[in-house]
Amino acid sequence: MKFRLIILSAALSLLPLASTAKDPVIHIVPQPERIELQKGTFKAAGASINCDAAFDTRSRAAVQDFAARLSIASGKVSSFAVPVGIAASAEAGSIRGFVFIRDASLGDEEYRIEIGSKAAKVYASEYNGVLYAVTTLKQMLPEAVYGGALADDADWHLPCAVISDKPRFAYRGMHLDCSRHFFSVDVVKRYLDIMAVYKLNRLHWHLSDDQGWRIEIKRYPELTLIGGYRSGTMIGRDFNSDDGIRYGGYYTQDQIREVVAYAEKLGITIVPEIDLPGHMLAALSAYPWLGCSGGPYEAWHKWGVADKVLCAGKETTYEFLENVLTEVAELFPGEYIHIGGDECPKTEWEKCPDCQAKIEELGLKDDDRFSAEQYLQCYVTACMQDFLATLGKKIIGWDEILEGKLAEGATVMSWRGVQGGIEAASLGFDAIMTPTSHCYFDYMQSRDTDNEPVGIGGFLPLDKVYGFEPLEGMPEGAGKHILGVQANLWTEYIATEEHLQYMLLPRMLALSEVQWCLPENKDFEAFKTKLAEHELKVLETMGYNYRKLD
Ligand code: ACM
Ligand code: ZN
Repeated sequence: MKFRLIILSAALSLLPLASTAKDPVIHIVPQPERIELQKGTFKAAGASINCDAAFDTRSRAAVQDFAARLSIASGKVSSFAVPVGIAASAEAGSIRGFVFIRDASLGDEEYRIEIGSKAAKVYASEYNGVLYAVTTLKQMLPEAVYGGALADDADWHLPCAVISDKPRFAYRGMHLDCSRHFFSVDVVKRYLDIMAVYKLNRLHWHLSDDQGWRIEIKRYPELTLIGGYRSGTMIGRDFNSDDGIRYGGYYTQDQIREVVAYAEKLGITIVPEIDLPGHMLAALSAYPWLGCSGGPYEAWHKWGVADKVLCAGKETTYEFLENVLTEVAELFPGEYIHIGGDECPKTEWEKCPDCQAKIEELGLKDDDRFSAEQYLQCYVTACMQDFLATLGKKIIGWDEILEGKLAEGATVMSWRGVQGGIEAASLGFDAIMTPTSHCYFDYMQSRDTDNEPVGIGGFLPLDKVYGFEPLEGMPEGAGKHILGVQANLWTEYIATEEHLQYMLLPRMLALSEVQWCLPENKDFEAFKTKLAEHELKVLETMGYNYRKLD
């Protein structure tokens, strides 16, 4: 039996027994809100799987998919059925096996599982709740359920228990930089797959930057045909080197739609990022009229912050951005589009007659806090926010968008520490916490860097990620504006899928408990036990590369 009865006799004499994170009897990551262990077991192998007709089509399909996976791995057929009157039958105890029942009183991402010796009743209201219930059940079963191979000698019993669960935060994000290095659709799908196992629900997809433009825009084909490629890349950490090898790639709009649909099926919404007005050198290389000087420009070979940015003085820049964002908005059905806003040097704007004329026209002035050029960036942000609102979209921006003036309705992503998030929330803006201190997965996982793959530096071990408390230091009443937490994976030094997964795992599992669990349900020692005893085997079964525990 996979679950561990730590003190069996004590457990049996104290039923029902509330299990907390301190007592990792059942290995589930992220730790559910409440687990009550009860006496007895339920035989999952060969159990029929019954699903309420009241669920929508995709929820029923997810349950059917669970039946198929369980059948393949256990070697015993779990039949799938959608019987009428399922709730009454479950109530009367006249139905056996897994019974998925729609309970509209539960939240969208909430679920409850009541495992008895004859029936395992699963309640949810909406798709994500169904997915998370299935995910939890799979974590309680042998890891073979994640693979495609038969493991009929494994123990397919579940402990009788009641599990009530819902997330702490609505936004549970993971970011992926596909500009510095380009990752194929298959790599992105596998990234999404593992996010789904740990109940993350947002992929922040960084699709443009100085080193490469990665999303096909029909109106501006050269964004990808030219801006999607650079003619060389610095080697390792040597900023004076260049390999001279053409590098690049991009996603066609059909591929973008394919990834969006794939993510949706996993309960994940994609937040696309078009970083502006800085981090735009690749776009400038394709359309030099976008820059202040008119170029020529070239997609960057180095890492860092390029000082050539979009010209904020020319009307053609705003037209370009609106046309690009229109296509982006059509491709991504989620409510948010990330418009970047980070690290935009103002050196070009200070010299540019068009930018200076715009500053004059708008009556922008230096003050004791910010320069007129900084207020010009605020103007760009506001224009994009207003435009996207006409398309029914809201903006997210990096915390630099707080500098100067920010219009109501923007969401701030706090990356330079937590202060931006605290300030945003105090001012009534929604915010997402993704501080470098706890959420930058490009940072090293050991101080022994000689034995780690080359990287950007920093130090972010598993326990530090796990220890992040997103509401620490938050003034009274402001916490409700913290939508959630995200970790970022910038890929300057990460060129392969193997390395990407190594940086992601297992830190993303620690992140999932930060995102999902109430602080009182977190326990690092218990988490490590869950990893050692089960989760790392799940990663292996699914074929992921991960960093071994210290
Ligand atoms: C960032 O890391 N520049 C948001
Ligand atoms: Zn300019």
